Formats: sequence, C-alpha cells, structure tokens
Amino acid sequence: MPKTVRWGVLGLGNIAKKFADDIKLVPDCKLEAVASSDMSRAKSFASIYKVNRFYDNYDDLFKDSEVDIIYIASLNNNHYKHSANAIKHNKAVLCEKPLAINESQVKDLVYLSNERGVFLMEALWTRFNPVFDQLLKWISEGQIGKIKYIYASFSFNGTDRSHDSRLFNPEKGGGSLLDIGIYPLFLSYQLLGYPISIISDAIKSETGVDKQIAMIFSYKDSQALLYSSFSHNEDMRSKICGERGEIYIDSRWHESKSITLSNNKKTKKKIEFIGKGYFYEIVESNKCIREKRIESNKWTHKNSLDLVKLMDTVRAQNNIIYPNE
Ligand SMILES: NC(=O)c1ccc[n+]([C@@H]2O[C@H](COP(=O)([O-])OP(=O)(O)OC[C@H]3O[C@@H](n4cnc5c(N)ncnc54)[C@H](OP(=O)(O)O)[C@@H]3O)[C@@H](O)[C@H]2O)c1
Repeated sequence: MPKTVRWGVLGLGNIAKKFADDIKLVPDCKLEAVASSDMSRAKSFASIYKVNRFYDNYDDLFKDSEVDIIYIASLNNNHYKHSANAIKHNKAVLCEKPLAINESQVKDLVYLSNERGVFLMEALWTRFNPVFDQLLKWISEGQIGKIKYIYASFSFNGTDRSHDSRLFNPEKGGGSLLDIGIYPLFLSYQLLGYPISIISDAIKSETGVDKQIAMIFSYKDSQALLYSSFSHNEDMRSKICGERGEIYIDSRWHESKSITLSNNKKTKKKIEFIGKGYFYEIVESNKCIREKRIESNKWTHKNSLDLVKLMDTVRAQNNIIYPNE
C-alpha cells in the first residue's frame, strides 16, 4: 500500500462536499477521483476540489486502479449496492451511515469484506470525534461511576422538505430513525451495550416512514431515553448520568467540540477540532488501510451489525418497511 492513501468519492451531494473539504486537511492522503450519476456535477466537483479524474458513472470509479478506498455518499437505499460493488472490485469502503437498510444487507457486506480481505467501515463519525474519546476516558476512570441514565436526542425541522426528499421518501431509505435517530442509538449502544428490552413509538409521515420516534432502551440497572425527529428544532445536548456524577456533551452533541464533567467539581473541556469532524474517520480509515486491516477496532463490523439490528427492532415495532426488503 502506498504511503499516500488515494480516495474516491461516490455520490457528489451535500455530505460529499463537506467530506472532501476534510480530506484536504489529512496528511498523506488525497482525493484522487470522483463519480456522480451526472456529468456536470462530477465536472464541477472535480474542478472545485482539484481532482484528477471524474466520472459520470460509478463503474469507472470501481475500476480505477489508482483508487484505494471509496467513500460512499449516496442515498441510504443505495449504500448496500454501492458498497458491495466497491468491495467486489477490491476497493476499501467507508460508507455513510446507515451502512445499509437492514441486518441482512449489513451481514452480506461484512461477509464480502471478510471474503475479499477488504476494509469496510460505517462512517459513524461521532465515534472518532476527540470529544467522544474524552467521554470514554472519564467513564473508564470512574468519574461518574456506573451509568444509570442516558438522554440523547437528534432533531431538526425538516417540515419544508417534500415527500420525495431523502428524508421522507421510503424508496430513498427515508425516516428520522435511519437518518438521525441512529446517533442516539449509537450513544446508548456504545456506552451500555445491547439493551435487554426496547419500547418505541413512532409518529409517521404520510409517506409511511417515521417523522418522529421515541425509544426507551432498558438495561439491567439503567435506562436510555432516545429520540429523533424531523418535526422541530431543539438544543441537542446529551446527558450521561452516573451514580457519582454526570457528563454533558454540548450541543450539537454528535459533532460537539466541548464536554462537561460534573461530579465533586465541574470540569469543562473544549477540544481543538480539525475540519468539520470528518477528519477523524478519514485518519482512522487511512490507518486501517496502511495496517491492512479489514475493520477498525473503534467501530467494528459487529458494532455496525448490532446497530442495524437495533434499528430493525425499532422499525418492526412500528411497522416501518422499505420497498423491496
Ligand atoms: N455524516 C453526516 O454528517 C451526514 C450528514 C448528512 C447526510 N449523511 C448521509 O449521507 C448520505 C447522503 O446524504 P446527502 O445529504 O449528501 O444527500 P444528497 O445531497 O441529497 O444526495 C447525495 C447523492 O445521492 C445521489 N442521489 C440523489 N438523489 C437521487 C435519486 N433520486 N436517485 C439516485 N441517486 C440519487 C446523488 O448522487 P450523484 O451525484 O451520483 O448523482 C447525490 O449527489 C445519506 O446516506 C445520509 O444519511 C451524513
């Protein structure tokens, strides 16, 4: 593997631009090629980000021998297809969350990654945020004792978006759970593990996907209240409460730059952040590729499988079904 990790980006929409801004900040890697279904979008993206090669189809990117890893930034319903295709062409994959729509698709991707010996990771960028490392450090030091309660929520007002938008269209894998509810689920899962039981209740859009959803995850001696919504804004601060203190991740917690510990004294940590926050998952992917790993030990294949199982359970409780499942 060359010293410089060569990235390709597939699907040149909103998130791809932010990601491309952060690639520029990471040492020893470069954005080598991009692909869109639309030639004018590919050309304009390549010109802005000074990319050597641009394609108006994804196959050419899969076949590009000078690309080591592809960042999949297409819509949720296409993550499985695009990631599988990339791996079959022996390209490492960093795929936007959710890694796929359901457990069966994630299982297939993990199987392919193992079979081909190719790196695969879900782009759960919050896991790689330095604030998250601080959170884990305080918890492992016992600063708040045993966790008893987690509150995590992710909402924004998306009521101006059409039924055909990626937020609401089931064909595009819409719904607040898969788009943003995945973050609160992740926080609870990462800190407390797989819950013993789940209660959830969704309010659905006319399109059949959830526009807001509330969940209670119960553990042996603790609980998590989790929520996501496209119906309103909110101050997104999360709380982790233990028997000896609390930790507050400041707003917006999933991309936070500061975190507060409150036990016998109050400690606020502000973290110097590089880029928009995607920097850290890029660094982790590069490291794994150089070490010839097929998964990160910070966000493993099993972690992605567990997370999608949790989302499948919540969807089943609320009869949220995607086309062709
Ligand atoms: N990590 C984060 O902070 C974050 C934030 C927002 C979104 N996301 C995730 O990133 C992914 C993309 O979100 P986005 O906001 O970037 O979406 P977007 O801008 O609406 O679309 C992304 C790309 O999807 C393809 N696409 C759009 N409409 C399509 C259609 N009708 N049929 C087929 N392909 C279509 C296009 O690819 P082409 O250019 O190839 O045509 C488009 O450029 C989603 O999975 C979302 O969950 C992550």
